[in-house]
Amino acid sequence: MRILIVGTGGREHALLWKLRHDAPAAEFFATQPNGGLEPLCTPVPIAPADIEALSGWAASHHIDLTVVGPEAPLAAGIVDRFEKKGLSVFGPSKDAARIESSKVFSKDLMRTAGVPTAEYRTFSNLEGAKSWVRERGAPIVIKASGLAAGKGVIVCTTEDEAFDALQAMLGDLTFGEAGREVVIEDFLDGEEISVFAVTDGTNAVVLQPSQDYKRVGEGDTGLNTGGMGAYAPVSIATDEVVTECRIRVIEPTLRALAASGAPFRGLLYAGVISTSDGLKVIEFNCRFGDPETQVVLPMMRTSLLELMRTVAEGGALTPGVAAARPGAAVSTIVASGSYPGSYETGKTISIPDDLESDDCIVFHAGTRNEDGRLITAGGRVLAVTALAPTFLAAADASEAAAARIEFGGAFHRKDIGWRERLRQE
Ligand code: AMP
Ligand code: GLY
Repeated sequence: MRILIVGTGGREHALLWKLRHDAPAAEFFATQPNGGLEPLCTPVPIAPADIEALSGWAASHHIDLTVVGPEAPLAAGIVDRFEKKGLSVFGPSKDAARIESSKVFSKDLMRTAGVPTAEYRTFSNLEGAKSWVRERGAPIVIKASGLAAGKGVIVCTTEDEAFDALQAMLGDLTFGEAGREVVIEDFLDGEEISVFAVTDGTNAVVLQPSQDYKRVGEGDTGLNTGGMGAYAPVSIATDEVVTECRIRVIEPTLRALAASGAPFRGLLYAGVISTSDGLKVIEFNCRFGDPETQVVLPMMRTSLLELMRTVAEGGALTPGVAAARPGAAVSTIVASGSYPGSYETGKTISIPDDLESDDCIVFHAGTRNEDGRLITAGGRVLAVTALAPTFLAAADASEAAAARIEFGGAFHRKDIGWRERLRQE
């Protein structure tokens, strides 16, 4: 079997790792692979954004299954293009990907489907938006409707901060087209959980819930990042919570998407928050989360490949919950100095030879091989995933392993999963 992975980050490394586990004899291809993916695949020198060239390449190279990692090519219609050429591809259509690429679409769909989420209004007019903020008061959350590489959400603690955010988005177009329309929603207080479901448009197989640590600093301080670490399972995501998420969030959303003429086939990511008023959806994504994938997939026992093939070939899934191994996984991101601000790249990375084992996997994100050296090539450089019988052992092992990785300016959070640690210690 010949499998093409579209995307070049830590999530894609974890996808390849799991699919290789599920199909040891498969041959892998990946677009512009990072330093960790490169030895595991045949590189394809085409950018994920170049849909036309990629679909032509996949057809002429007899690819049996294409798995798309990032949201941008999905939102640009890569799946529609591949399917038009008769190629088997895992991911939602352009229309279904609007659940992530348009927050206005996503919020309106939730309202129609009765999915619990924060109260909101949408605006493209600055004055109207400001008067809504005055009416609602702070804290309040301002979201650019379009894709903004994870930077389009501003949680404002004061009305003035909200006015500044609105000025930046609607007035100065700092977020370009993505910020021409905004969602203003009520602030929700509670603990976040990431729930992934593989779906065929109707039926869902829910994977083990995980939790992402998005702030750059320990104790959840400092700027938002793409994610500084994650762990699974999450003890507050009990079987009852997963069932509630399936019945009140995932299934009605799938029904509403299908009714709108855009059935969602692929990986639906529900970012939910557990509030005093029950579960509420913070956001939907149309793809696997990064870095949650780096813990969810190493824990997953069910064959991901079988699920993906069924969906890509238009088959029906048996609804349920994917099996996970016992124990826990914690992943710690090792990042470049000053990330998420501007940072330097090209630093030589040193990973001790004895670091990796069956219970410790180093997933590469921003790395590159150059002249026989592994060098940094991004803000989030590596995700160090440790597996252990308990959360505490996995968290300690992940942190200890991350601390042994060296490159100029390297840093990591030492407290990934601190909320779980508080519950367990
Ligand atoms: P997103 O880019 O949609 O993942 O949002 C980034 C982060 O902003 C989320 O992970 C939350 O921590 C936070 N956030 C988004 N919406 C809300 C909300 N309504 N209330 C509180 N925090 C929020
Ligand atoms: N970890 C958050 C995301 O992938 O959007």
